Amino acid sequence: MNWLLNILCILNFLISCTKGQQEYSGNSVLNCKNEYETNYSCNGRNSTCQALLIFKARNPYNSVPGIAALMSSNMSEIARINNVTRLTVFVPEKEVIIPVNCSCSGSYYQAKTMYYISALIETYFVIANNTYQGLSTCNALVRRNEYDEFSLRPGLELQVPLRCACPTAKQAAKGSKYLMTYSIDVGDDILKVGKRFNVSVRNIVEANGFLDENSVLYPFTTILIPLPSEPSNLDTGNENYRKPIRSFSPPPAANSSKGKSKRNIYIGSGVATGFVLLLLVVSWVILLALFKKRDRKFPRKSSSHEDILVEIANIDHVPKVFKFKELKHATRNFDSKNRIKGSVYWGGFKGEILAVKMAITDVSREVNMLHKINHFNLIKLCGYCEHKGCFYLVFEYMKNGSLREWLTRTKSRDTISWKKRIQIALDVANGLHYLHSFTKPGYIHKNINSRNILLDSNIRAKIANFSLAKETDTSGTSWELVGTTGYMAPEYVERGSVTSKMDIYAFGVVLLELVTGKDAVIVEESGEILLSAAVAAIMEGENAEIELDGFIKADMREDDDLGIAFSVANLSLRCLTREPTNRPSMEEIVSCLLKIQVNVHNAKQTSQN
Ligand SMILES: *[C@@H]1O[C@H](CO)[C@@H](O)[C@H](O)[C@H]1NC(C)=O
Ligand SMILES: *[C@@H]1O[C@H](CO)[C@@H](O)[C@H](O)[C@H]1NC(C)=O
Ligand SMILES: *[C@@H]1O[C@H](CO)[C@@H](O)[C@H](O)[C@H]1NC(C)=O
Ligand SMILES: *[C@@H]1O[C@H](CO)[C@@H](O)[C@H](O)[C@H]1NC(C)=O
Ligand SMILES: *[C@@H]1O[C@H](CO)[C@@H](O)[C@H](O)[C@H]1NC(C)=O
Ligand SMILES: *[C@@H]1O[C@H](CO)[C@@H](O)[C@H](O)[C@H]1NC(C)=O
Ligand SMILES: *[C@@H]1O[C@H](CO)[C@@H](O)[C@H](O)[C@H]1NC(C)=O
Ligand SMILES: *[C@@H]1O[C@H](CO)[C@@H](O)[C@H](O)[C@H]1NC(C)=O
Repeated sequence: MNWLLNILCILNFLISCTKGQQEYSGNSVLNCKNEYETNYSCNGRNSTCQALLIFKARNPYNSVPGIAALMSSNMSEIARINNVTRLTVFVPEKEVIIPVNCSCSGSYYQAKTMYYISALIETYFVIANNTYQGLSTCNALVRRNEYDEFSLRPGLELQVPLRCACPTAKQAAKGSKYLMTYSIDVGDDILKVGKRFNVSVRNIVEANGFLDENSVLYPFTTILIPLPSEPSNLDTGNENYRKPIRSFSPPPAANSSKGKSKRNIYIGSGVATGFVLLLLVVSWVILLALFKKRDRKFPRKSSSHEDILVEIANIDHVPKVFKFKELKHATRNFDSKNRIKGSVYWGGFKGEILAVKMAITDVSREVNMLHKINHFNLIKLCGYCEHKGCFYLVFEYMKNGSLREWLTRTKSRDTISWKKRIQIALDVANGLHYLHSFTKPGYIHKNINSRNILLDSNIRAKIANFSLAKETDTSGTSWELVGTTGYMAPEYVERGSVTSKMDIYAFGVVLLELVTGKDAVIVEESGEILLSAAVAAIMEGENAEIELDGFIKADMREDDDLGIAFSVANLSLRCLTREPTNRPSMEEIVSCLLKIQVNVHNAKQTSQN
């Protein structure tokens, strides 16, 4: 069988040369150690162009801002091309069209993006196949990044080349303006993909150097789809996009119409007839064998795809409206045993634990805001309820309570390691960065403090309590002084000035709590001292490093990482700068914390050796 394959490959190669288009790399892209870089060669008419990718919305990359950040694409462009708003959160598995700038790098086309590793278990393969859904390949990642597979760790920044290409002169002449990179799904075949995007099978076959429309496609590998114009939103406008894919499910059985299109292709490509005949015989034998194998391996999807298409109608994430009866039942009639704190209760909702917060003020503003934002580091609103003038907000349940409680409660050095503390700082910084810069309009939280930062079962932090949040557009001055003592920025206290820099100031105080373990307001016999003032005084002194160590709560002290405490304290003081414009941006803070995180990791390794 091998010699047959070899012949097939050689023939295939010759044909693709004569066609001069890209070549489908088959399942070799799944091999990280491939001898050749999986590539789309730089053979187009132009060396740069706008290309398109199809990405399936999946948590956490299920919103326009999230996907734009992952792909280094333009949020406004994604919104326009998919006919949604810049804040849209897509239903799971919704196919989103991503415009990217594709350009030649060496002899290959690519669209460049960056990826920050955030979890411990990521590998090049998982990043390429799962996170980027096959739009990049592990082989390309290995080649573009200096780190070997085993030194990947949270905080590292990877170069990610996304697979794309620009039309060749021939394609351009035939009216193809864009090439769209599409990652094959289980059960896809060329006919189906052609129908779905209303592109002729012949164009797809030619664009990817396939033999014919029966060529085997491997899931999670990409093909190029030539398009005459920008596709409109995949689920509206064009009836073909809406049609359930199921109608094309039966495997392409022998049918006369197929023979016809095949003939067309080969007449079109102008290859000698004898050649074609040989090829046909050889390929039929192989394709039959492969087809049988594939059907066994990848059972065709049945109705689930259709359900998703129906679901797509409902694009924005809308919180559920609960019945009061449901809340009463879940919280056992607001039993004191279910009380978490204040007016917050936990309740069991169909096996899932959620938190229910009672409020007597109108919460519609908070609800409206929370349903528009969606970020791992911002608390998720699951639903709400109004009953006899009372409002109830239902949130995801955060098992480890507030950061303040955690800092007070935890005594063991192991559980309160720097690794966890820096992760918490990064979580909060990422949440605020999103809130300030990636929502439209941007928001100012106005009440960041360690009691409004909650920890889930994995000690990952989420920002909560948006009752004071304000749109950045309406920022200005406010004489109604609200907030929490110890966290309020001087310009707010003195002039009522409201800008996103007030959140940066408050974040600086939270950083100091993470360093020292102490509360934002330290109560001593002589009176109250602000933590920020105390640390500022220490850091200005002569033996800052040693004094800081003495100031840190005994059970938070770790011998070998004074340097880390010192660098976090320094970052914090920059956030606490009196002049708001001199405070760093959230983006700068995130990148600074990522560097510290790498140092924590390295310090740990050296101390272990
Ligand atoms: C590009 O990929 C093809 C196989 O997909 C391979 O034959 C070719 O050598 C690669 N080109 C380079 C320069 O690595
Ligand atoms: C690509 O090149 C052609 C001619 O070489 C030019 O007319 C066209 O505007 C170029 N397209 C882009 C997007 O640069
Ligand atoms: C994104 O695209 C819009 C036009 O669609 C443009 O005005 C804006 O400058 C672009 N943003 C970036 C960062 O390129
Ligand atoms: C875009 O969506 C709106 C409704 O959300 C619809 O009225 C409009 O026809 C859509 N436009 C296109 C081009 O699909
Ligand atoms: C591509 O680059 C141009 C400027 O070079 C920019 O305006 C545009 O927004 C970019 N497109 C995307 C999708 O990033
Ligand atoms: C590749 O990613 C897909 C999701 O995009 C996943 O279903 C599949 O299991 C992954 N393949 C492997 C070998 O992990
Ligand atoms: C499909 O594409 C053809 C041109 O290739 C066009 O005439 C036809 O209107 C398109 N069909 C739909 C439903 O968009
Ligand atoms: C063959 O294709 C035609 C339409 O092109 C269709 O009407 C017919 O049912 C098909 N036959 C089989 C056996 O699928």
